[in-house]
This record gives sequence, C-alpha cells and structure tokens, in this order.
Amino acid sequence: MDYKSVIAENIAKVTELDVEQVYKLIEIPPQKDLGDFAFPCFILAKSLHKAPAMISADLAGDASLTYGGMFNVKNAGPYLNFYVDRSRYAADTVSRINEAGDKFGASKEGEGQNIIIEFSSPNIAKPFHVGHAFTTILGNSLSRIYDRLGYNVIRMNHLGDYGTQFGKLITAYRLWGDEKALDEDPITELLRIYVKFHEEAKKDPSLDDKARENFKKLEDGCPEEVALWQKFRDMSLVVFNKLYDRMGVSFDNYNGESFYSDRIPAVVDMLKQKGLLEESEGAQVVKLDEYNLPPCIILKSDGTTIYASRDIAAVLYRKETYNFNKNIYVVGTPQALHFRQVFSVLKKAGYDFADDCVHVGFGLVKFKDMAFSTREGNIVLLEDLLDAAVDKTREVIVENAKLRGQDMSEEEINEIAEKVGLGAVIYTYVKSGREKDIIFSWEEMLNFNGNSAPYLMYTYARIRSILRKADAAGIKASREADVIGTLTGDDAYEVISELSGFEGEVKKAAAINEPFVISRKLFETASAFNSFYNNCRILGEDVDVKDSEARLALCEAVGNVLKSGLNLLGIETVERM
Ligand code: ARG
Repeated sequence: MDYKSVIAENIAKVTELDVEQVYKLIEIPPQKDLGDFAFPCFILAKSLHKAPAMISADLAGDASLTYGGMFNVKNAGPYLNFYVDRSRYAADTVSRINEAGDKFGASKEGEGQNIIIEFSSPNIAKPFHVGHAFTTILGNSLSRIYDRLGYNVIRMNHLGDYGTQFGKLITAYRLWGDEKALDEDPITELLRIYVKFHEEAKKDPSLDDKARENFKKLEDGCPEEVALWQKFRDMSLVVFNKLYDRMGVSFDNYNGESFYSDRIPAVVDMLKQKGLLEESEGAQVVKLDEYNLPPCIILKSDGTTIYASRDIAAVLYRKETYNFNKNIYVVGTPQALHFRQVFSVLKKAGYDFADDCVHVGFGLVKFKDMAFSTREGNIVLLEDLLDAAVDKTREVIVENAKLRGQDMSEEEINEIAEKVGLGAVIYTYVKSGREKDIIFSWEEMLNFNGNSAPYLMYTYARIRSILRKADAAGIKASREADVIGTLTGDDAYEVISELSGFEGEVKKAAAINEPFVISRKLFETASAFNSFYNNCRILGEDVDVKDSEARLALCEAVGNVLKSGLNLLGIETVERM
C-alpha cells in the first residue's frame, strides 16, 4: 500500500472521516523539518468541540494507531506530522513499483462497476477536425484510467449519423456526386457536394423541399435512400477508423444517433404517461422551470425528432443494456446546457440514474505559430495536424541523432517520429487541464527540455538506454531491500516521493475526470529524476557496484511510472530517441 493510504486508513479508524476524505486532506509539508506528510486537524474541530491543536495532540498520543511502523509521528500545532524512515521508504516504494512493472497504479477500486465513456462522436460525412481530437484524446485517456482502476469500461462512439442534413446529402449526391472521387477521398467529396448544395439552395429553394422529401424517405426506410446513407456512413467510418487506429483508440460500440430514432416513440409515450409533455408553439416540450432551465424540445412542430430526444432515448438504452454505474459524456463545453436539459428531463421523469450521468466538457483549440490549409468553415483537420507534428519531430530526431552520433535507420527514425509526434499532439491536449482553451505552438510541443511529451519520452528512452548499458556490463537493478534502502540522499528522496504519489494521482484523475493530473505528475517525476541523474553517477568504474544496483532500481521504477502514465494518456513510449 502507498504511504499516504496507510496514514488515511489509520486516521479514518479513529475519526468520523472516511479513508478517502483523510487521503485528500493529507499534505506534503513545504519544509522537510515538518515531516514528509502532514494531516491538518481543523476539519475535526467542530464535531469534536476541541481546538485543532488538541486533536492533533490526541491523535499523536493514540497508541492504537501504529501506521504499520512506517512513520514517526509528531504533533505540531494543528498538524499531525509524519516522518518516514528514508531507507524503508525507498525500499518499499521502489520494490512495489518494480514488482507491478509498467502497469503500476492499477487497483481494484472499480471492480464490478460498469462505466460508460462516450467520446469522439464525430458527424459522418464531415471532416474530422481538431475539436473532435479533443474529445477523442480525453475520452481515450479516461477510458484507460478507469480501466486501470478496475472498472468495466464501455467505450461508446455516439456518431452523428442522423438528421435533415442527410436528406441534403442524398439530394446533392444524385445531382453532382462523383463516384470515383467518393471512393478516393469520401469525406472531401461529401463535403464538396454538401457545400455546393447550400450554395445552390440559395438560388433554388426547391432543393430544400427535395432534401426534406429525401430525409422523410430515409426515415421511412425507403431502400434507395437507406442504401445511400449506409454508403456514406460506412465510407466515413473507414476514414475515422484509420485515424483511431493511428492513435490507438478503440470503441466497443458505434451506435450513432440513427440507432435511437425508432426508440423515440417510446420516449414520447413515457413522457406523456408521466404528464410531462406540453405543447409550446406547436412543438412538444418538457418544461424545466424548476431547474432554472429552458424547456427541452422533444418533438419539433412537424413531428420530427431532434438531437435531445435522441439523447434521452440513448440514455434509457444505455441503462437497460449496460446497467451503468456512471455514464460519462466527453463533449465540448458549448453543449453543457443541452446535457443539463437531458439529465433534468430524466430526473423529472423519476430516473434517479440521472445523477450518475456526467458531462465532461472541454475548451477550444487554437494555434500560435502554425498555418494549415483550412477547409470550409476554417476547420483544421486532425490528420494535417498529426502529419505536421510527425514531420517536425522527424527533423529534430534526425538532428539529435547526428549530434549524438547515433546510428539510426530511416525506418527507425520514421517509427520514432510517428510516436513522438503523436505524443506531442496528445500531450498538448491534456497538459493544461480540459476546461482551458489549448494553444498549439511547435516551440512548446517539441521542447525536449520543457513540459512536453518529447521531454517525458526522452527521459524514458534515456532510462532504457542506461538499463541496456548496465545489462551489457553485467550489472542489474537490485531487488534487495537493504541495497535499495541506501537511496536516502536528497536527490533520490525527491524522486521517491514523486513516485510514491503516482497511484493517488491516477485515482484523482478519475475522480475529477482530468487526465491532466497524470501529465503533471509525470512531468514532476521526470524533473526530479533528471536532477538526480545530473547529480548522481549511475554507472562507472568509480561507482560502487551496490550503488549502481540501487540507482538502477530507481531508474527502473521511474521508467515504469513514466511508461504506465504515458500509456494512461494514450502515448506510446520508444526505447531510444
Ligand atoms: N456529434 C456531435 C458533434 O459533433 C457530438 C455528440 C455528442 N454526444 C451526445 N450524446 N450528444 O457535435
């Protein structure tokens, strides 16, 4: 068990607080003489009718709390301070990590719980742009995090594959579609005819009637219209899947909006039966005044379904099919109101699982020093961004290899550039926290010495190279507590204390649906490690073999944590770069 958890379990035993509450309150004191961990007692003052300083004194004197013999405990004012034995701390932490390997951070916290993560959800026949990448990267990372914590994760892609625009596409394709162009580059061709439709419809409004007619036929299941729609959908999915494969993203379920359309009559019946459906300006709505929200439209005045009704049908389906404990939507913040309405309708209809539905929003994507050929509507395609990042990365890798005299084949360089380039993009999406807008800048993304994926990946590769070198010299990372326990210097201590907090950060990332918590931890760990590395020789004739073995164990542990954490972000490591 990690050190912080041991403190939390002990204190929870004798107070009204539960383990999780205590865990969250534990601090790392700013000065070492105040201990390695500290528990502030203020929170207990009210219920115990005692001054915090008295509470901390009582806790310090409580003989029933042994903390597994892992700490020396002292009270200081309102704080209860915990001092580790550095030697044991090093041995415990490093051994635990190296036993777990690159899956370190795994737990059984989520056992038996089903969690749906809906992410990506692009609109078919439309380009996959950098905004869709945000939900894709966040959702992929959250899926990996929950999975690591033992939850049963169901990854859903709620494709935008329904709506009046498909009537327009069918109409446009019949008039101007180019089959060959569609085969070669489906999305570009579909976008071309879609744009053309809007231009032409301005001049000839009868096109809109035609489109409505075709959508109606699609809804009624007319074979020709359904076949065209199916073709557009299939072709779009081929394009999207290529991107998903490239990024290591997968889904369990691609039920798009179309899937739910024939479940809407049941939703309407249910709402009617519960007396929630009201007419407003010809439309059928559920009023949400008591939630301080505008009414949620269920059926439009012409009787057709809309986005919100499909979402309500979708939640009911998800509950029925997966009996979820949590249902997470990774969708841009502009849709926050929509989700509040959907969840409130459920609540009003008496479905308490509305409280288990969570909208995880995110900001916008901006570019600082990059120019892309943008398409209609100023869209930057994810593929263009990835390709550019990989090209830029390749330049840096080639240059570094020259400087270091590394001999790399073109194939190896390409492989490394692909992973590092993608890593740089993915990392930029997560590193600032999802609510903030992100600004892409090559300088930051590819800064091998800054808070970037290349920096973390390089640190990992450097560790792997040290371990290879050691192996060649017949020196192995130690597995022995008394050898690893010699890592008590300040530089090693800083690294160990970062490593020790990793598991807690994985849990926290899940609790607030924020992969940034992990990226921050990795950056701090890598920085601590690099200071250690600069100050302590690991291998060399003048280094005692036992010291080498202990330091190699620490290197291995850092490597395991970096690999584990990068994997949780959706970033692959490379063995050298
Ligand atoms: N397809 C939508 C878009 O691209 C996002 C769908 C979000 N998910 C949902 N259940 N409404 O904007």
